[in-house]
Amino acid sequence: MHVGMETIWLSCPKGLTSQLCLEVKELGLNVLEEHKAAVETRGSLADCMQLNLCLRTAHRVLFKLAEGPCRNPDELYDLAREIPWEDHFSIDDYVCITSLVRNDTIRDTRFANLKCKDALVDRFWAKYAARPDTGPMRDRAVVFFFWQDDRASFYLDTSGESLCHRGYRKQPGEAPMRETLAAACVLETAWTGEGNFINPMCGSGTLAIEAALIAKGIAPGSLRESFGFQFLKGFDEAKWTELCRRTQGRDFSGRILASDIDPHVIETARANAAAAGVEEFIEFSVQDFREHEVPEGGGVFFFNPPYGERMGDVAELDSLYKDIGDFLKQRATGYTGWIFTGNIRMLKRVGLRPGEKRVRYNGAIECRLADYEMY
Ligand SMILES: C[S@@+](CC[C@H](N)C(=O)[O-])C[C@H]1O[C@@H](n2cnc3c(N)ncnc32)[C@H](O)[C@@H]1O
Repeated sequence: MHVGMETIWLSCPKGLTSQLCLEVKELGLNVLEEHKAAVETRGSLADCMQLNLCLRTAHRVLFKLAEGPCRNPDELYDLAREIPWEDHFSIDDYVCITSLVRNDTIRDTRFANLKCKDALVDRFWAKYAARPDTGPMRDRAVVFFFWQDDRASFYLDTSGESLCHRGYRKQPGEAPMRETLAAACVLETAWTGEGNFINPMCGSGTLAIEAALIAKGIAPGSLRESFGFQFLKGFDEAKWTELCRRTQGRDFSGRILASDIDPHVIETARANAAAAGVEEFIEFSVQDFREHEVPEGGGVFFFNPPYGERMGDVAELDSLYKDIGDFLKQRATGYTGWIFTGNIRMLKRVGLRPGEKRVRYNGAIECRLADYEMY
């Protein structure tokens, strides 16, 4: 496996870069630059293994191979033809080529991908009179290039499938949060296992599951079946096994409670938690949040109520948000209340002044994450 140090581009959902920077630094790597939906660091392919294993808020770990001027498809071909692809793939491999293209000469990204594929294949033919297979499946080796105006950069996508697919979500539920976003929300509360993490309106259980993974110190990547880097030439399996062994869990003292008014979604949440191996750390129940117990010890009450965009009747939401505010005010003394919602107008109904309102995105929906300290 190529051991040199290169730029590593970590993509993430918009709004999560500050959490991602913290995670990168915690792993002992430097942050070179913070972009709108990505963080740049520098490291080796071995570092990419660790980043894929441990990062909770990143979507992809992209290892840079080359960069250069690129004004049109012919220049893209020439640039890609110079890359020593044979250092990373063998003729028996399967490679998927993906891209993000913002260049006036390209109307269909598939055409740019085809140019890159031709360059890779022609290089192999010239050297070995044979070539790797190529196609759209992301479950093995993946190449990514970013072509903006007159510059293109080529990367190995060492993640393959996006890291937001941890592998535990067997059933999605109605309006689930992405795993990466849920993890970022839990990290933002600073809850790490002391005191209680209470998640009424838990839906498919993503927040509670991510909270359990964080409290137990379980690396999210340990749940996945595979990553792109495992299909690269010279993949160091012994090192990977050693990395996985070093990230084994710890104990925590707090409680994680997850509930929802809908018994069906609780079944889903339980199944997802079991798939993540954390079912035994979460206390599930079916109930209206208004009836929820408030255990001793303080901690976090985290609400992700219906938005009214994808589910829930907007008229009914008014009283729902007001009742969340009343619940926090009247019952949740000693806790910090958190609300994540895509319905910004409804936050006013809560009737409490948030500490900070953070702009986040759940897919394309602009959302807010607000915290309320309940003394
Ligand atoms: C936006 S979804 C939560 C999604 C969840 N974060 C996930 O990742 O799947 C809102 C949830 O609130 C639940 N809900 C609505 N009204 C409720 C109430 N009064 N008490 C408890 N849960 C309620 C719904 O059943 C739904 O599952």
